[in-house]
Amino acid sequence: MSQEDIESMMKEKRTFDPPKEHSDKAYITSMEQYEEIYKRSMEDPDGFWAERSEELIHWFKKWDSVSDYDLHKPEVKWYVGGKTNIAYNCLDRHLENGRRNKAAIIWQGEPEEDVRVYTYQMLHTEVCRFANVLKSMGVKRGDRVSIYLPMVPELAVAMLACTRIGAVHSIVFAGFSAVSLQNRIQDCEAKVLVTADAVLRAGRTIPLKPNADEAMGKCPSVEKCVVVKRAGNEISMQDGRDVWWHEIMEDESISDECPYEEMDAEDTAFILYTSGSTGKPKGVVHTTGGYLTYVAHTTQWVFDVHDDDVYWCTADVGWITGHSYIVYGPLALGATSLMFEGVPSYPSPARFWKVVEKFKVNIFYTAPTVVRALMREGVEWTRKHDLSSLRILGSVGEPINPEAWMWYFKYIGNEKLPICDTWWQTETGGILISALPYATPLKPGSATKPMPGVDAAVVRADGTNANPNEGGHLVIKKPWPGILRGVYGDPERYKSTYFERFPGMYESGDGARVDDEGYFWIMGRLDDVINVSGHRMGTAEIESALVSHESVAEAAVVGMPHQVKGETIYAYVTLKSGVEETDDLRKELRAWVRNEIGAIATPEVLQFADGLPKTRSGKIMRRVLRKIAASKYDDFGDTSTLADPGVISDLIEGKKSLL
Ligand code: PRX
Repeated sequence: MSQEDIESMMKEKRTFDPPKEHSDKAYITSMEQYEEIYKRSMEDPDGFWAERSEELIHWFKKWDSVSDYDLHKPEVKWYVGGKTNIAYNCLDRHLENGRRNKAAIIWQGEPEEDVRVYTYQMLHTEVCRFANVLKSMGVKRGDRVSIYLPMVPELAVAMLACTRIGAVHSIVFAGFSAVSLQNRIQDCEAKVLVTADAVLRAGRTIPLKPNADEAMGKCPSVEKCVVVKRAGNEISMQDGRDVWWHEIMEDESISDECPYEEMDAEDTAFILYTSGSTGKPKGVVHTTGGYLTYVAHTTQWVFDVHDDDVYWCTADVGWITGHSYIVYGPLALGATSLMFEGVPSYPSPARFWKVVEKFKVNIFYTAPTVVRALMREGVEWTRKHDLSSLRILGSVGEPINPEAWMWYFKYIGNEKLPICDTWWQTETGGILISALPYATPLKPGSATKPMPGVDAAVVRADGTNANPNEGGHLVIKKPWPGILRGVYGDPERYKSTYFERFPGMYESGDGARVDDEGYFWIMGRLDDVINVSGHRMGTAEIESALVSHESVAEAAVVGMPHQVKGETIYAYVTLKSGVEETDDLRKELRAWVRNEIGAIATPEVLQFADGLPKTRSGKIMRRVLRKIAASKYDDFGDTSTLADPGVISDLIEGKKSLL
């Protein structure tokens, strides 16, 4: 976050009461009720979580104990001994409870006329068929399946087919490059890859299968590849390995019925890779019973979803938000989830509002970067469509600055809809801090209060509690059912990243403060992770991509404040001696990173630097680099440990000559 944003949040004093309209149907209707539930959840967590799970989830066999954990080890288990199945909860039980013919997924493709509606019955059939396809390919319980798809319904079908048969899915966002896909497949040794011929985005056809081919060339674990035909572009299919989705799904030998596996509560459901401050992306592991309970619990209370609602989360299923709040949470509740392929700005900045009007969307969940981008286009776009169906607004991915909050409230919410600013992470499985729409008075820029069951706190570096309004580390002091259970294949990293610095607590990596009224204000990452348009990027990952180029000797990457994206990537690059600093090379290096990681990792600015500000022990002083990137040339703090203080003025010169 920029200094201006932090200052504007510190000054923010406005509050907005929750709406009365629709509150008669709401799950939680007052702060008194919230506080009572919260208190109970802290005093008797096992009782609270047992009740929530019994209410929301069907268990084939009840658990022996609700929780069993030791955060020092760390080891966390929920609903120990219980047996359930995620796909059963998202599909089968709704066939019996009156929702059989209800829309489970409404899919709006990028071209206006591309709409598909799947009832729960239809989705069930598709999922069973694809589960049988996977089985015919030799996929068994515990095997990994990588999924690299655009926002097409087959993505949800493939996920649910995996969880139905106990296979572990690992979804890779379709914007990632071949190299990123390859790393992720190799790490989890996936047996099958599900992909598509191309991605349709902003009117363009971006080939996807060539990336999959390149990756699979270096992934011997992949035996079969299923390809969804999205764009009809020319692609190559390898005999014996690649099959078309539509052909294999139509095969007469594939049955519409597929028994579900009775999974242990702690069996792994999926792996999702996310960036950290060091090294390569980590495979965050989520399990079955706790994750499912947690996403159903939060979807119900945060979005107050009822049976006749149309719920739309605009995220991509390639990120955790899509896993939890497009697919698993809404479907576990038997809700109607809108799945959208495309971007907010194409064919015009009215795109989202047109979709809201078309399907009479009631609950709308998006990211601050989208709000800021649309804000820049002007309010006239919001007025082209009828937004009166909307009841609840949500925000996720990064701090929402008060200006964007007010715009969202005023022009989309018509100054009356609650905005739930939801704070959480890939690792947390679901929302940890958020307003409850009909209970919590809102303060623009604050994620408000922890969800019932979540023991959130801000602590100092020594682990003691910070005072009100004192900034510190955001931690969670008790486990909740959706907490990650591991980093795939790397227990040491699991421990050191989340449980070492503050023994007995979960360390989020974010900074925050709590105000006098117990409201949380998230201040952004405290580590070397950059949040670009709500997407997490590790600086170390981008640096290692840069130094793998033959011309680069050294690189340092920092975040730079950006009006729409929140933060953007600023790279300082030292070239090998004798290599000339040219604009062409700058372009080449940016393209190199795009190719190594994906478009979202492309540095916005790339500055050549003869030297980097290093301490005498060789550590790069990133604080200095961040200030220069932000064009703040005063007050660099204590620079007495720098080996060569002259580097700073050279860097400032270099920065100025870039502008
Ligand atoms: O810094 C926080 C920021 O996004 C990080 C988590 O990123 P990721 O694992 O990709 O998950 C994104 C979707 C949940 C956090 O460490 N973040 C997420 N939501 C918010 C936020 N920062 C402030 N306010 C939020 N509502």
